[in-house]
Amino acid sequence: MKNLFIFIFAATFAFSCSYPKLKKAETSSPNQAVRVSIQLNKEGKPFYQVFYKNKTIIDTSFFGFDFKNAISFDKNLGIVKTDTSSFDETWQMPWGEQLNVVNHYNELRVELQETVAPKRKFNIVFRIYDDGLGFRYEFPQQPNFDTALITEENTQFNLTKDYKTFWIPGDWDIYEHLYRTTSLSKINALQYAHHKDLAQTYIPENAVNTPVTMVGEDGIHLSFHEAALVDYADMTLKVDTTNLSLKSVLVGSENRDYKVERKLPFETPWRTIQISENAGGLIESRLIVNLNEPNKIGDVSWFKPMKYTGVWWEMHLGKSTWDYSGIQDMTSFTTDAKPSGKHGATTENVKKYIDFSAKNNIKGVLVEGWNTGWEHWIGFEDREGVFDFVTPYPDYDLKEVVRYGREKGVELIMHHETSAATETYAKQQDTAFALMKSLGIHAVKTGYVGKILPKGEYHHGQYMVNQYNNTVIKAAQYQVAVNAHEPIKATGLRRTFPNTIAREGLRGQEFNAWASDGGNPPEHLPIIAFTRMLAGPIDFTPGIFNIKFNEYKKDNQVNTTLAQQLALYVVIYSPVQMAADLVEHYEANPKPFQFIKDVGVDWEQTKVLNGEVGDYVTIARKERGTGNWFVGSITDENTRTFTIGLSFLEVGKKYTATIYKDGKDAHWDKNPTSIEIETLTVDSTSKIELHLAEGGGAAISLIKQ
Ligand code: NOJ
Ligand code: CA
Repeated sequence: MKNLFIFIFAATFAFSCSYPKLKKAETSSPNQAVRVSIQLNKEGKPFYQVFYKNKTIIDTSFFGFDFKNAISFDKNLGIVKTDTSSFDETWQMPWGEQLNVVNHYNELRVELQETVAPKRKFNIVFRIYDDGLGFRYEFPQQPNFDTALITEENTQFNLTKDYKTFWIPGDWDIYEHLYRTTSLSKINALQYAHHKDLAQTYIPENAVNTPVTMVGEDGIHLSFHEAALVDYADMTLKVDTTNLSLKSVLVGSENRDYKVERKLPFETPWRTIQISENAGGLIESRLIVNLNEPNKIGDVSWFKPMKYTGVWWEMHLGKSTWDYSGIQDMTSFTTDAKPSGKHGATTENVKKYIDFSAKNNIKGVLVEGWNTGWEHWIGFEDREGVFDFVTPYPDYDLKEVVRYGREKGVELIMHHETSAATETYAKQQDTAFALMKSLGIHAVKTGYVGKILPKGEYHHGQYMVNQYNNTVIKAAQYQVAVNAHEPIKATGLRRTFPNTIAREGLRGQEFNAWASDGGNPPEHLPIIAFTRMLAGPIDFTPGIFNIKFNEYKKDNQVNTTLAQQLALYVVIYSPVQMAADLVEHYEANPKPFQFIKDVGVDWEQTKVLNGEVGDYVTIARKERGTGNWFVGSITDENTRTFTIGLSFLEVGKKYTATIYKDGKDAHWDKNPTSIEIETLTVDSTSKIELHLAEGGGAAISLIKQ
């Protein structure tokens, strides 16, 4: 990837004087809207404040670290030096929501040192953007401080208002919770400490996971997250409901009495705050990727964004099984089902998906349950050594399927369910990725269901952060791109390692197939768009047409209309988008399926046309290469009417607009499949009126004539 347009303007003003005379430093964003100030109090404790257009967003909030092998780092500090500089570049995403990304910030770097023995040094660096900021800590090389064993990071975010907050609990093991909407002062994460449908979960504190998004009565929108999570633990945010304050709590391990171990010098991930006057600004912000380092793996043109089908939903519905003998019933997490003989990943079944995909402009087919070991995964403690990622079941001819796919122009997507047996996976990776390379397979979906082995580790602790990151780095060596399920949260590392294509890390579509609580409610995705999606691409797996699937499950269903399922291809961003339903359900509905066939999957531009967190959102995206536009609009359980102006279209050009909208009687529960399709000619002066049903949506393709 080339950085085509780099204009770097760096001005450095260094104030060097003998500390501790300097007590305060301040810098603003390029347009002055966001301002940060850092100061020391009388005890030499450093604190910061954040202002947006002179409103206090973060009031006096302290920094600090506790260590197992040293005294805490939080007082008796002096400012040794402060530097400010500016940076402005435009870089290109190899694939993404847009092609050109502006990365323009002012940096404030504050060097601190203890005024008393042991005189340790420590820097705080702020990057201040027009749409928010990030800050991180640097631990420079220094005598007598070789390794930091961090027991806690104490970064505070003291808010000034009781914001309406969209949050999931600070689970150390999974992000697959429903988002809750409460005021900050009413957050109670501990009440979700047990959930029947989660294969692993641990919520030790009244904390939330990030991104956590807040909306103030004055219209200020904030979202807290982190960027560049490398060799460190996930940061949850503990909520002080009385003082309206958040404080970092790192994810730990039962195997050590500290949470992070790092040799000096090192730097922490960026702690980020997105700030916007409207909800859409949060989605359009590129703060998280911008705070990550540029591409370190070079050309990734071997990975092409794609739509894919797969042997997947049929197992979640119970139509077929992952395991060959059919003794596992994953949909109820039991192992006592009678042998069914309904194995899904057979050569014949996969060829059916390949044929269907080839006919319909879909370039990938995912195959789950293809390799031996599925008889012994969920519910077993001794999971190491079970999966080997190279041995197919006897009814699956891997080479033949790959050959057949190639003949038809369809590539397989490999599946590595590790069952969280991390030592086995780390050992097997070279062999597994080499097999993929020899077969010309360039993408893998990984899975980490269950409690982590070795016992005592959590999915979001430093041990696992390194497992996930090492997997991506190793995969790149074999030209393999990774779509991780049960992952660590996205923190923009796709900029540095662009073979990080997508991940789960939320309650995906699968919950609609089997959750005991009725699945994802209609408000789920209008919240996800402004929370989880700010972190990075989501493998949500949209496109379920057989919404009620009563022939498989009477008590479960998808809680949206069919039109909303189409809109999700535009609203939810991922460079791999699944057409998740069964082939027969698409074949029975060719008219709405046309949208999935047509919709782009790699974008030159993204515009959020309207939206309110948790209520609705409408997004327009311009496809790379063709210049065609696609629009997706979704609502929660309330109906909405919008007038959408098409001024984003190329002036003077005519487009064929095909509008897939909820039928007049559509309703997510009472009549979810009622859909109307209308075709008209439009241009940049046209307006389209959309009426969204309860739990509904609309999808529009705008194809140049
Ligand atoms: C959970 C994943 O989220 C799902 O997509 C997958 O089918 C199963 N694990 C089996 O690996
Ligand atoms: Ca999952």
